[in-house]
Amino acid sequence: MEVVNSIEDMCELGRLWKSDPETTVVCVPTMGALHRGHGRLITRAHELGNLVVVTNFANPLQFDRPEDLKAYPRTPAEDRAVCEKMNVHYYFEPSAEAMFPPGFLTTANVAHLGTRIEGEVRPGHYRGVCTVVLKLFNIVQPDVAVFGRKDAQQLVIVRHMVRDLNLAVRIEGVPTVREKSGLAISSRNGRLTEEQKTKALCLSRALKRVHFLVKKQGITHSGELLQAMRSAINSAGEDVTMDYARIVSGYSLEDLSHVERGNTLLLVAATVGGVHLVDSSRL
Ligand code: PAF
Repeated sequence: MEVVNSIEDMCELGRLWKSDPETTVVCVPTMGALHRGHGRLITRAHELGNLVVVTNFANPLQFDRPEDLKAYPRTPAEDRAVCEKMNVHYYFEPSAEAMFPPGFLTTANVAHLGTRIEGEVRPGHYRGVCTVVLKLFNIVQPDVAVFGRKDAQQLVIVRHMVRDLNLAVRIEGVPTVREKSGLAISSRNGRLTEEQKTKALCLSRALKRVHFLVKKQGITHSGELLQAMRSAINSAGEDVTMDYARIVSGYSLEDLSHVERGNTLLLVAATVGGVHLVDSSRL
């Protein structure tokens, strides 16, 4: 595995690969603190192409609160070892100074898609995500990029940006990896105690409950389903605050009055022991 830190070197490699029709470059954008969920992304990347680039950049622009950025886990040595073991070809780890030099002014924004739902809880978050993802696409020039489905809103927004700006990259969504308990794997789980992890199961429980109500009881009215989601989260007890529970279109992120099979996203988020957690599912 080759480690690249310089943006210029990575751009040069990207240009070389672009000119080779035999090379399909698959990019796995990450913020480090790699876990089994990232492992699944890397495995999928190997299936989709013959040159896998993992990027590791804890993007300051997507953290609305400095303390959240500070608390974000950093495990650079372990991350490199994981990538090496998983036969990643290139590992791109630029510095914040190189990505956002003094005088950096330009950002990418997918209008209201980025300010709704999670964007309301974390203002500016998706502007930060889109800006860094667009930069990474310009630098690495991948044919395909893989993203986890857990942050379903991020996936919708990135697809939208790619479509709107005619970016020459295909976006592939990869299913969420869960603990046996059902807890969606996240770098943030490391900040939870065992007791808080148990409480955090209210998120996956809320999603499962909706699947049950739709599939087994034929309920499609969002009002009733949302009530079930909210009560699953609100009954998790002290230390858990519901941030949102939404039933939205998988394309426009607009609230749906009824679930539409094949085009519905269930989005939930809660703060557990001060840690903001999200989960999602498709119907
Ligand atoms: O999903 C993430 O880890 C980040 O939002 C991403 C896509 C790497 C951009 O920083």
